Amino acid sequence: MELGGNTFYLGPDEVGVGKREDPKDVAEVLGRYVHGIMARVFGHHIVETFAEYAGVPVVNGLSDLTHPCQVLADLQTIRERKGRLAGLKLVYVGDGNNVAHSLMLGGAMFAMDVTVACPEGYEPDAEIVSKARELADTYGPSKIEVTRDVGAAVEGADVLYTDVWASMGEEAEAEERRKRFKGYSITMDLLAKADPEAIVLHCLPAHYGE
Ligand code: NVA
Repeated sequence: MELGGNTFYLGPDEVGVGKREDPKDVAEVLGRYVHGIMARVFGHHIVETFAEYAGVPVVNGLSDLTHPCQVLADLQTIRERKGRLAGLKLVYVGDGNNVAHSLMLGGAMFAMDVTVACPEGYEPDAEIVSKARELADTYGPSKIEVTRDVGAAVEGADVLYTDVWASMGEEAEAEERRKRFKGYSITMDLLAKADPEAIVLHCLPAHYGE
């Protein structure tokens, strides 16, 4: 808007992508009305269908696989605070989810070391981890790691990051996840192991106590 463009919002009540309307149809029709689409549609396959059929640029505004816009903003914040990205150590504590995926991919592209510390069964997607490692080889060198040992992971970290334990669409698992993620919280004790100048980021919503 500040650059002179116009936007309009289509929420679930207006369009019902994947429920009332086929994603391909929505993409083909919307692409004739607009110059670009920001798709915050949950299912990653819907973003991909939009990108294939809309004929205009499509930005992923959050999917169940990745959350690149969040991480672009995070990387900007980290660079503003630390003056650089390359060589910094970022440790993500919690669920190996969409945000963790984008932090691994984005961090690797800026030569950051990224470690995801998560409980068994909640690891990041294996394909994303190997893609991040390829990116780390290309843009790094840097290290992309997955571990269960939160305490060891945060030693000397420059940036700590965490997210909710149950993301959008996982509300039914919230109770089970509260048990499984015990210990995967950023506490003052954990923070004390990080670099004294470490910063803490959260993509929100923050659930205090998790
Ligand atoms: N992992 C969270 C991020 C919210 C910004 C979710 O997908 O709900």
